[in-house]
Amino acid sequence: MQLLDNGLRFSPITIVLHWLVALALLAILALQGAIAYAPDEGVRLAFAQWQNLAGLLLFGVSIYRFWARISAYHPLPVGTPNPIEVIISRSVAVALALAMVLLPVAVWASRATAGEVTALPGGLTLPTLLPINPSLNHVVDVLFNIGATAFLAGLALHVFGAVKNHFLLKNNTLMRMLGKHVEL
Ligand code: HEM
Repeated sequence: MQLLDNGLRFSPITIVLHWLVALALLAILALQGAIAYAPDEGVRLAFAQWQNLAGLLLFGVSIYRFWARISAYHPLPVGTPNPIEVIISRSVAVALALAMVLLPVAVWASRATAGEVTALPGGLTLPTLLPINPSLNHVVDVLFNIGATAFLAGLALHVFGAVKNHFLLKNNTLMRMLGKHVEL
């Protein structure tokens, strides 16, 4: 099996992990909505624990994914896009992969410096490691808000690019990310 991407195609691992990350992110956002509308504290806590588990999974997968993205060739673009667009779309993709490593760390650091534990299902908790420190907590929160805003903007651009390629330019960019074999 092809383990890493090469100039001609994405590896199956990249494709599976790409959609796993998208699913984990969707689950985190859906659980955030569920937490806001939870009928009582017990349900809210259970949703929060599952959300933390999804964040931990996202973090672990994203460390590998970021390393794989920067250590292998990105396959050639489908069609003949403008080189500037290729540079921008690839930079955004690398930034998205990096954000999925840094943002979960920021959430954990924000909780730790605020004196809160990050609880997981089954009564497990993540080690806090950092001291309770309101000033550091403020800095981490500001950095998280900046990072999360930039991430959402980058993700919107990324999804817009995928939709544009599929529906407007009618090429196989999206289908290739869904596993279709594309001859270049
Ligand atoms: C509905 C959601 C999404 C769609 C439709 C989508 C679509 C795509 C497509 C079509 C490509 C291939 C681009 C190419 O051929 O160069 C791609 C690559 C990529 N996407 Fe997404 N994407 C989505 C969500 C995400 C999310 C949530 C992330 C990360 C947070 C992400 C990160 C990446 C990265 C890093 C690549 C480069 C290949 C890799 O290393 O995985 N995408 N995406």
